Amino acid sequence: MSRRQAARPAGHDDGVRADALARRFTEVYGRAPDGVWRAPGRVNLIGEHTDYNDGYVLPFAIDRSALVAVRLRRPDEVVRDGDGAAAASDVVDLASTYDPDGSGLSRARFRVPGLAPGAVAGWGAYPAGVVHVLGSLDGVEVPGVELLLDSTVPVGAGLSSSHALEVATIVALDDLLGLGLERPAMARLTQRAENEFVGAPTGIMDQSASLLGRAGAALFLDCRTQESELVPLPVAEHGLTVLVVDTGVAHSHADGGYGARRASCERGAAALGVASLRDVPEQADLSALDGETVRRVRHVLSENRRVLEAVERLRAGDVRGVGNLLAASHASLRDDYEVSCPELDLAVDTALAAGAVGARMTGGGFGGSAIALVPAAQGEQVRSAVAEAFAAGGHRAPDVFAVVPGEGAGRVR
Ligand code: GLA
Repeated sequence: MSRRQAARPAGHDDGVRADALARRFTEVYGRAPDGVWRAPGRVNLIGEHTDYNDGYVLPFAIDRSALVAVRLRRPDEVVRDGDGAAAASDVVDLASTYDPDGSGLSRARFRVPGLAPGAVAGWGAYPAGVVHVLGSLDGVEVPGVELLLDSTVPVGAGLSSSHALEVATIVALDDLLGLGLERPAMARLTQRAENEFVGAPTGIMDQSASLLGRAGAALFLDCRTQESELVPLPVAEHGLTVLVVDTGVAHSHADGGYGARRASCERGAAALGVASLRDVPEQADLSALDGETVRRVRHVLSENRRVLEAVERLRAGDVRGVGNLLAASHASLRDDYEVSCPELDLAVDTALAAGAVGARMTGGGFGGSAIALVPAAQGEQVRSAVAEAFAAGGHRAPDVFAVVPGEGAGRVR
């Protein structure tokens, strides 16, 4: 099964997509949705594997998003099971236009009472996780729901398609149930959905970018305090483009590699007698640690420094100046954190050789995407160099496309 989403043009008008999705919803469920909400994917400019170490990150929301059309079931609604028997109105129906094997809509159904981790598999676990954590809040009762998803965030590309779905679901339910949740609280709740329900031990960066991102800016986030600042990222004004190279190599944060890195960091922090690697001083003596832990710790400490440096440069209006920090970040992720792979290294090296001012893997690694900060005039040159290098290396053709820092999540209609 191909993990790729059918390519849709990035920047495809969200209002047009939302109208189409509402019409489709009515066809699928026989009634109009209460509304349509969107949540973007993200690119992490810099600050990788620092979020779960209480560190700094600098991601931005991209112009590709998950849209969800949602209708709350009314209390007196009678829902028919597959065999025609009447069930209660606490049934959640999920459907997605993502159709990798051409079998039509992908669907899932569950009941809200007793919903527990493991009850819903595949993509449905993300909205189910959100229903689960909201239901655990004092005084919140989540009714049955009908939901239809459509997303332009490629699946499995390391651009947070799953977090976009979680965030779209929580902003929709927050609105419809009148919960009045603040955005940082929504970030924590969707992180809980991911950790406790989906079972992926991820940090708080991706949801925060999707919830708090703004057009033309990157989100400087302190993952310990959740304090954040929008830092201008005027790439186009500086004659630059951000290219994403989706290697097509699948990755999953529920697999062992991500959790193993996280565990190494926790061991390192414990051995150094601190609560998290954020608390390790610059000149700390790492000699008591084993070689592998030293490399992991060294990456986290140096990456936090690079984020702060990148923020300084952007505040000073020096967008190009971020380039060499991206390259240094990639080297550290490749050599010290060991989460890159041959395709990501090839994408980065080729982009740099073809004129990118900076390039690095983005997201958790072990596959997924690289980004390159490229002078707009050299965009085509970089694209074709990467395509040729992948063909020459016997790798599957990568998907290369431009992204711009876009708006965070919200209601579309
Ligand atoms: C994934 C996780 C994030 C973060 C990155 C690595 O995207 O979801 O929380 O840990 O990997 O920086």
